[in-house]
Amino acid sequence: MQRTKALILSGGKGTRLRPFTYTFTKQLIPVANRPILYFVIDDILQAGIEDIGVIIAPETGEEVRRVLAEYTFDNKKIDFNFILQEKPLGLAHAVKIAQDFLGKSPFVMFLGDNLIEDGISSYVDKFFSEELDALIFLKEVEDPTRFGVAVLDECGNVKKLVEKPKNPPSNLALVGVYIFSEKIHDAIKLIKPSWRGELEITDAIDTMVSKGNFVKAQVLEGWWLDTGKKDDILEANRIVLDEKIKREILGENLHSKIIGRVQIAKTARIERSEIRGPAVIGGEAVIIDSFIGPYTSIGDRCYIEKSEIEHSVVLEESKIFGVGRIDASLIGRRAYISKEEELVKAYRFFIGDDAQVEVC
Ligand code: DAU
Repeated sequence: MQRTKALILSGGKGTRLRPFTYTFTKQLIPVANRPILYFVIDDILQAGIEDIGVIIAPETGEEVRRVLAEYTFDNKKIDFNFILQEKPLGLAHAVKIAQDFLGKSPFVMFLGDNLIEDGISSYVDKFFSEELDALIFLKEVEDPTRFGVAVLDECGNVKKLVEKPKNPPSNLALVGVYIFSEKIHDAIKLIKPSWRGELEITDAIDTMVSKGNFVKAQVLEGWWLDTGKKDDILEANRIVLDEKIKREILGENLHSKIIGRVQIAKTARIERSEIRGPAVIGGEAVIIDSFIGPYTSIGDRCYIEKSEIEHSVVLEESKIFGVGRIDASLIGRRAYISKEEELVKAYRFFIGDDAQVEVC
């Protein structure tokens, strides 16, 4: 049997997360202060797969390389094979350009912005024990038009797959995790770009079904998050904080109240504040006269004074000063938010393209 490989897709444009994705890639946005991509890699390594290819884009590839160079698993560094995709021409296009790396190996393909609760180990075992050509994952969703959608027959076999249908034939969305045998490459050779100009993996799997390849679907029991939009990231942050954070107060605590499952990095300083878990506070962050949490992640080197932040993700080196209450927000790196003490007479903004400001 060929050794199983993994292909992580960390290219693309991330248009739905602008302005964030002008400067860095969505797969690196942190939840609970860890890049989303790290959780994907955890799942792959936990399944015993160490031969990992990573699709990167020209605009953001260097940053992905830099961030992955810092990734460790059981204190061990991992060697990744980076594959440059010049243009985001589709998920099947990414597989096509990864063919030299993949060879004839079966592989797990994992979209770098997807998080799943279950991990993949048991499914990799199922793929081999049932001698499948493809194992796909489905989840019932409220708005299937945003996803690839599957139609199953009464025995649960895959009948048909359609990408982002206007009139969805079912509410079973395709999760961004797939396990393939080498037969996927033949199917990709047969497909044409879709109406959105992309070589769709959904079309390639649909081709496998119509060629009679052994394609099976697994409906996921646990949660699945496609972190393509702001609210999805906040939800991912909420779930990950809820499930993975243990109380660990390493930083300096001066006259502060720290309640519940809170993680405070060694070099952080909390003064006259209240931190309510689940929450994480990154290295060298300073929090003064503020209220943080629950469900909030504060990145490294942030400075927060006289503010209240809950259900939010604040990325590294942001400064927030004198702002009353911030709720359900995603705040980028090096952002600066402040408010004068007296009643607001006018708002003063310095905001890039596609920013969203809600004054409530
Ligand atoms: O999240 C699940 C959905 O992912 C599935 O239901 C859909 O069937 C599947 O097509 C995909 O849809 P999206 O529209 O969400 O795909 P997106 O363009 O966001 O790309 C998914 C990931 O793959 C993202 O991390 C970027 C990366 N990517 C994307 C393209 C188009 C690449 O690396 N190269 C590409 O060419």
